[in-house]
Amino acid sequence: MESLTLRASPSTAAPLRRVPGRRHAAVSVRASAGAGEPDLSVRVNGLKMPNPFVIGSGPPGTNYTVMKRAFDEGWGGVIAKTVSLDAEKVINVTPRYARLRADPNGSTKSPIIGWQNIELISDRPLETMLNEFKQLKKEYPDRILIGSIMEEYNKAAWHELIERVEESGVDALEINFSCPHGMPERKMGAAVGQDCDLLEEVCGWINEKATVPVWAKMTPNITDITKPARISLKSGCEGVSAINTIMSVMGINLKTLRPEPCVEGYSTPGGYSARAVHPIALAKVMQIARMMKEEFADGQSLSAIGGVETGNDAAEFILLGADTVQVCTGVMMHGYGLVKKLCAELQDFMRQHNFSSIEDFRGASLPYFTTHTDLVHRQREAINQRKAIRKGLESDKDWTGDGFVKETESMVSN
Ligand SMILES: Cc1cc2nc3c(=O)[nH]c(=O)nc-3n(C[C@H](O)[C@H](O)[C@H](O)COP(=O)(O)O)c2cc1C
Repeated sequence: MESLTLRASPSTAAPLRRVPGRRHAAVSVRASAGAGEPDLSVRVNGLKMPNPFVIGSGPPGTNYTVMKRAFDEGWGGVIAKTVSLDAEKVINVTPRYARLRADPNGSTKSPIIGWQNIELISDRPLETMLNEFKQLKKEYPDRILIGSIMEEYNKAAWHELIERVEESGVDALEINFSCPHGMPERKMGAAVGQDCDLLEEVCGWINEKATVPVWAKMTPNITDITKPARISLKSGCEGVSAINTIMSVMGINLKTLRPEPCVEGYSTPGGYSARAVHPIALAKVMQIARMMKEEFADGQSLSAIGGVETGNDAAEFILLGADTVQVCTGVMMHGYGLVKKLCAELQDFMRQHNFSSIEDFRGASLPYFTTHTDLVHRQREAINQRKAIRKGLESDKDWTGDGFVKETESMVSN
């Protein structure tokens, strides 16, 4: 295997804003077999975590009790449920979740592969949430707690929210530019993330105020996710998180003819998550990672999210360049103890390849994406070189009736 050019190991810089915690000096790395267990620790924007697994904003980070549980179980960090200044404007409905099962008939015995929610941001008073953040930072000073915030299109409101959330002692801020449902009329969430001019202006407000690292959370519900990611980073954000949920309609009840989840006979499009979105998240993360590698070299970070339930899912994101991996629905389905399985499986993967640290393989698969035109070119070259061995068909005219099954097999990737 050719040697891979990867980014350097984390520096030991203090977690200060504007002093990125990682340098991008290129180093050629093929992991050496380290003594002992593979090291899962990461340092991102100066924040040190025992492992890359972070609770994604949502129900698993909605109050003191559950966030404490996450720290006790060993999560590398916690991103709390998104807060805003006035929780009274946030009115949730029930039911607000709907699930898709692998079995086409929806047997409750078959695994859940997709999850839709029409849940809004936190409906708990901001002051209550901030007191809980303070308490958690008091009890777990060395653990990473990230406040997720969202506000209306109003500079003063954003500044007040940032000041109050920072005062609670959080280590960083994640900006929710990405909730697909609810409150677009107040220019909140995806309404900002989908409008690059608005995004640039709001990011400007945020970055002139914030004193801790800021991650901008991207919506996948946009044609080119690299555009808002680029604008956020150019506007001074230290990192990008991707993806939030994908706009979805979970289904139509064929008895009642009403859409799901059904509230008083009606529904509204929601956000799709869990295993089914993982391939889409991989594509979005890959696009952002390529853009960051080409255009930014100042320690900006990438936090990957979407359908993670195994250590291998996480390894895939890291191989595309992610610094951290967030999990939301996976925790709702499997509980906080999932982190132990994730860590063990990621270490198994690292052992198989002799990787001793996360930096040994972060971004290692990124160079292997190219254009379709380039695939055609590469294949033509390869076929020319293998004239004698017929492997893969160059053109549709080459199919033969006799060797049809073998020829089909020769073009399957696994
Ligand atoms: C019930 C639910 C509530 C969520 N609430 C928030 C939220 O308040 N803020 C936010 O930024 N993302 C929120 N998300 C999105 C998740 O953080 C995550 O981006 C998305 O679900 C994809 O990851 P997953 O497949 O691991 O869940 C929520 C997701 C779910 C399922």
